[in-house]
Amino acid sequence: MSSALPTRPGPIGVFDSGYGGLTILSEIRKALPEYDYIYLGDNARTPYGTRSFDIVYEFTLQAVRRLFELGCHLVILACNTASAKALRSIQMRDLPKLDPARRVLGVIRPTVECVGSLTHTRHIGVLGTAGTIKSQSYVMEVRKLFPDINVVGQACPMWVPLVEYNEARESGADYFVQKYINALLKQDAQIDTVILGCTHYPLLLPKIKKYIPADITIISQGELVAQSLKDYLLRHPEMDTLCTRGALCTYYTTEAEEKFAESASTFLNHSIEVRHIDLNG
Ligand code: DGL
Repeated sequence: MSSALPTRPGPIGVFDSGYGGLTILSEIRKALPEYDYIYLGDNARTPYGTRSFDIVYEFTLQAVRRLFELGCHLVILACNTASAKALRSIQMRDLPKLDPARRVLGVIRPTVECVGSLTHTRHIGVLGTAGTIKSQSYVMEVRKLFPDINVVGQACPMWVPLVEYNEARESGADYFVQKYINALLKQDAQIDTVILGCTHYPLLLPKIKKYIPADITIISQGELVAQSLKDYLLRHPEMDTLCTRGALCTYYTTEAEEKFAESASTFLNHSIEVRHIDLNG
């Protein structure tokens, strides 16, 4: 175990490439309000969705390490791209060296677990970043749990920039929202369930609902991940005792603090204090 890592109990770490993970953090804080959290957004290097496997892995590992150094024993990758491209390597290769008692969890598995009971046609669609869709992580995870379900994926490369640049509610966003939804539904007319496989996408939900037919179920990840974390802490009291309870949340960004504070507060509906962090050093 690395001697640099603090051993005393600490906050739960929540990581995303930018603002998207705030949609997960909000639901986690609703379900588990008593715990302390650190949110880390790598806004300076977002988006991850168009980056290579190696780069997403390297950036995610830097963030996980930094969250461990800040005292977290448990880190949630509130980012599908990082969960798809980096989670397994970090769990298998890096955790045993960094500290085998610390844990890193992703968002794909808890999302997939619920689809079996939601789809009647056994045809589902996944909307995600180019990286998540190309990784086939959803297809593989669904195949493992529900081999009878057909999955098609559609990359939506413009959606994360729309959210990051605060354009999600503007009328210009409609064009790109409709475009990718049409492309997904064209791939398989029997789809009755659509997974929003990117933590940024719930911020586009009002527009997404406009273009997805009302009889299709839309799965947003926040509540599922929050419930899964709750179950995890119940099943792992040894980890639960390493998570402090003070109902505090500290926000870090790799970009400018003011910029993050301004955009994040529109997503969270309250103002926050933000600290800058450098992940390269
Ligand atoms: N929010 C992230 C996800 O869930 C990634 C967005 C990005 O950086 O491309 O995939």
